[in-house]
Amino acid sequence: MRIAMIGSGYVGLVSGACFADFGHSVICVDKDAHKIERLEAGQMPIFEPGLAELVASNVRQGRLAFTTDLKGAVAQADAVFIAVGTPSRRGDGHADLSYVYAAAREVAQAIDGFTVVVTKSTVPVGTGDEVERVMRQVRPDAEFAVVSNPEFLREGAAIRDFKHPDRIVIGTSDERAQAVMEEIYRPLYINRAPIMVTERRTAELIKYAANAFLATKITFINEIAELAEKAGADVQDVARGIGLDNRIGSKFLHAGPGFGGSCFPKDALALIKTGQDFEAPLRIVETVVAVNDQRKRAMARKVQAAAGGNLRGKTVAVLGLTFKPNTDDMRAAPSIPLITALQDMGASVRAYDPEGMEQARLELNDVTYAESAYECARGADVLVIVTEWEQFRALDLAELKAAMAQPVMVDLRNVYPAEVVMRHGFAYTGIGRGRPSRLEGEGGERP
Ligand SMILES: NC(=O)c1ccc[n+]([C@@H]2O[C@H](COP(=O)([O-])OP(=O)(O)OC[C@H]3O[C@@H](n4cnc5c(N)ncnc54)[C@H](O)[C@@H]3O)[C@@H](O)[C@H]2O)c1
Repeated sequence: MRIAMIGSGYVGLVSGACFADFGHSVICVDKDAHKIERLEAGQMPIFEPGLAELVASNVRQGRLAFTTDLKGAVAQADAVFIAVGTPSRRGDGHADLSYVYAAAREVAQAIDGFTVVVTKSTVPVGTGDEVERVMRQVRPDAEFAVVSNPEFLREGAAIRDFKHPDRIVIGTSDERAQAVMEEIYRPLYINRAPIMVTERRTAELIKYAANAFLATKITFINEIAELAEKAGADVQDVARGIGLDNRIGSKFLHAGPGFGGSCFPKDALALIKTGQDFEAPLRIVETVVAVNDQRKRAMARKVQAAAGGNLRGKTVAVLGLTFKPNTDDMRAAPSIPLITALQDMGASVRAYDPEGMEQARLELNDVTYAESAYECARGADVLVIVTEWEQFRALDLAELKAAMAQPVMVDLRNVYPAEVVMRHGFAYTGIGRGRPSRLEGEGGERP
């Protein structure tokens, strides 16, 4: 199959490289000429494990190419995937579909012969109808079918997720389009990945419902963590205790600083707006967003409390800035409101992230960046673990303590067992662990 991928961002680039790896002939298009130049030079615009190697090998074998020439790429394609951004629209939280419709218009002008146009971007229910209308307006004569094929990959594990998906959702009632889509995903059929064909609107809603459900699970355990902390229980054990129930499942039950990232916050907001438009309000999702928003500043208050109640003139070392490990994506990362709140409270912030500091510089002001976790900790009054990068899981606690002005750790990801950190002489605060902040016998008080 000949595939044109419109948008070579996180989803477009990963999907394009994986389709090429399946054996299809793929051209990734982007209107950002600098991005395309870099890709042609073998430089990845994002950090994603394994991506550079996958792109290089498929380019070498002649199955993957990059261009800014949308027209040329689309004219030759059997299927055109639209994988452009759908950020929150400024002001009202609706999904901003201007990039999708602009791409649809350009695609319509360029198609030549029957073409399947696939919306891979996350778009509100009913967008496929509008894409079809927009395209028909531009090219009443053209032969095409508009399909929804939402993407479920996770950043940090994107290639694995794309190649071993839990399911593939295809929204179409056009038989010719269905046959093309099945041919494109055939290599995954062999791996027995379930392919689900639904109506287009249903496919669009599946994506939002999935993200909103996962965001709800995270927010639920975060609220349980608050209760556990005050009531003297351990949220880690509560999560395990409920997660072992098959009906609940253990994933997305890790208490932390609140969800962030390029998808959950904007998709939850967009779903709320869609619910309101259809007069089917989604009260649970509305509450999830409100609870999650409040949590970010609450985390700063937790740091302040750990530092003795006042952060003015103190230095906070922040380990991890990206919204999750193994990506350099800073979009809506919890570290951003956390750091801003710490600065509002009078703290100086030093930070270290293995991959995210270049992006973080664009988002944050007045932060001093370090080259390692230990350099970051030097002279700090509190150390805060915000993102659970692998390299933060086995820090040399003695070296860390020696570097710091005060041995105080706030572990917003529960990476460390409290006892281990306290044994090294730290005051330790985790999430949802209703335990003393010092080892008994060291002057700690049980709440
Ligand atoms: N990032 C994820 O983990 C993820 C996962 C699942 C779904 N999604 C969804 O996929 C979509 C894309 O997300 P992303 O993170 O890849 O976005 P991104 O911002 O990384 O990439 C979008 C790219 O599209 C390009 N673009 C925009 N308009 C264009 C046009 N007319 N022609 C050519 N290129 C154009 C931009 O220059 C940019 O490079 C969104 O709807 C998102 O919600 C993202």
